[in-house]
Amino acid sequence: MTVGIDKIGFFTSPYYIDMVDLATARNVDPNKYLIGIGQKLQAVIPETQDAVTLAANAADRILTSADKADIDMVIFGTETGVDNSKAAAIYVQDLLGISKRARAFEIKQACYGATAGIQMAYDHVLLHPESKVLVLASDIARYGLNTPGEVTQGGGAVAMLITANPRILALDGQSAFYSENIMDFWRPLYRKEAVVDGHYSTDVYIEFFKRTWKQYQDKTGRSLADFSALAFHLPFTKMGLKAIDAVVQGTASATKLLRQFDFSTQYNAVVGNLYTGSLYLSLLSLLSNSDSLKPGDRVGLFSYGSGAQGEFYSGTVAKNFDRQALKKPVDNLLDDRHKLSIPKYEKMYQAAMPITSGDITYDVTADQSRYVLRGRAADRLV
Ligand code: HMG
Repeated sequence: MTVGIDKIGFFTSPYYIDMVDLATARNVDPNKYLIGIGQKLQAVIPETQDAVTLAANAADRILTSADKADIDMVIFGTETGVDNSKAAAIYVQDLLGISKRARAFEIKQACYGATAGIQMAYDHVLLHPESKVLVLASDIARYGLNTPGEVTQGGGAVAMLITANPRILALDGQSAFYSENIMDFWRPLYRKEAVVDGHYSTDVYIEFFKRTWKQYQDKTGRSLADFSALAFHLPFTKMGLKAIDAVVQGTASATKLLRQFDFSTQYNAVVGNLYTGSLYLSLLSLLSNSDSLKPGDRVGLFSYGSGAQGEFYSGTVAKNFDRQALKKPVDNLLDDRHKLSIPKYEKMYQAAMPITSGDITYDVTADQSRYVLRGRAADRLV
């Protein structure tokens, strides 16, 4: 029996801005954003969407009623959750009508949360092969207008169904991880936007990648030659490029792995940062766009969450993998988006302040964004 990712769904906002327009408005050479950062377009999240609705919309795109009845665990990885106490997973379970005979909870460790969820789901399904686990990775990345981080904003959600005998990626069950107390990016309780030392964080990310990649090789005896592709957590695509360059340059695998890396950045370059979902959007991009990956090929995944936690793990493309079935819905979603002018984006950005308090209610609509945020009541003392 194999265990791994059986389905992947993706959702993001129907609005985006062009990085050339942003560069022009900020008086920056567009090539800094396009080449130096490696981003082309950026999702803009309206006030009707939050981490819950993004995740519900992503999961809605993949789950059948049989899945909803069979799911016995819903794990929600996020660092832009909607409540300090109650798990976002409970809202999604309710909105989608997922079985109530399920464990539903939230995991937080910056961008790493969903990877912890996948590892937990893997162990659970190995022990209980009839189980299906829904792992959600959903976030909105905000750094503020006119900040150096603005070009690395974005948002969206990836929903993954972890089952026995998966049809997308069978996990190897081998991974290497490392954590250390580091102040590179964090968001204290009193703040709506993150505190970040972006250059330091990039250095730590590369260091954690090299460290976990070495641990993985020592543990498994595998080398770069055993991999058809490597996928990375991608806050912006240039960051992953720096990491892959650090280990493949000068090796016989460089041409092949760098070519596959290009496929793994295509969706991230036109959506932006998803925090917890970034690695999984990159995996989706690789699997959907690579013209040469085939069943049995091994893919390495590097997950990173500031603060900091790194993990390198691997899986092989499943026997019955259907590339077109994965790719079409994502391409359609991205093609249907509307471009915003920079003034319109700034207005939408300011209207969509993250929720800090109050009761939250959600609505189901007939639109492409099926699940929306209806309201945030004022604080209610009881
Ligand atoms: P910056 O200071 O504006 O940019 O910050 P820079 O001066 O470092 O330039 C960026 C690159 O553009 C450089 O290339 C320049 O040379 C190049 P590099 O040296 O890096 O190879 N460049 C040009 N290229 C072509 N033509 C030009 C040109 N001009 C310059 N004309 C930074 C960039 C990413 C630091 C900033 O946007 C930021 O702070 N972003 C937010 C934080 C972030 O995403 N950090 C990434 C690491 S944090 C992380 O991984 C954790 C995270 O995922 C969250 C979590 O774990 O929870 C974010």
